[in-house]
Amino acid sequence: MALLRAVETSSRDFKQLVGEIAALMTYEATRDLPTIPIEVTTPLETMTGATLADKIALVPILRAGLGMVEAVVQLIPNARVGHIGLYRDHETLNPVSYYFKVPTPVAEHRFFLLDPMLATGGSAVEAAAELKRAGATDIALISLVAAPIGVETFTAAHPDVPVYVAALDRELNDNGYILPGLGDAGDRLFGTR
Ligand code: PRP
Ligand code: URA
Repeated sequence: MALLRAVETSSRDFKQLVGEIAALMTYEATRDLPTIPIEVTTPLETMTGATLADKIALVPILRAGLGMVEAVVQLIPNARVGHIGLYRDHETLNPVSYYFKVPTPVAEHRFFLLDPMLATGGSAVEAAAELKRAGATDIALISLVAAPIGVETFTAAHPDVPVYVAALDRELNDNGYILPGLGDAGDRLFGTR
């Protein structure tokens, strides 16, 4: 996390670190996923193994959530991937929705929303609401850096959605950036500023 935050970290290393931390968090976020027994024949005998009971869908919030997807897919190779396009209006900080495409049938999937930043919480609140409107009943949010207000706002709006964050930071500044934070995650991932 310290390397991820450091201003001198290159876009290349930033991408690598976002993936590494997302993968570590996946272990925690999937710890209690239900499994069903499957029969496995080893070279020596037959035994009962376990396989995931549910279809898994990963849904990055564009753009910065894209940086987490590949690392999580490495751990859940059968996961399907949806996309939710949202950006924050720079004046109001309210989320503006521009894209929504997720695996169907929606109600049959267990969704993991991916977004490295939970600042005001507006984007994640809207993304979870869009998933629910589409029929999702089982959602978790994985984020890397959160502000206290973002966690409060999100859990108030979606008390049924567990939130996993790697770091809970101090506060937001007047422009809605997390302090100490790591800056603009999308710009750092994609080198747009
Ligand atoms: C960033 C980030 C989150 C959002 C968090 O996206 O990736 O989606 O801000 O802020 P919030 O909790 O206050 O809503 P941004 O709006 O910068 O879009 P971009 O990644 O497409 O640039
Ligand atoms: N979005 C970011 O990318 N960084 C912040 O600090 C807040 C929102």
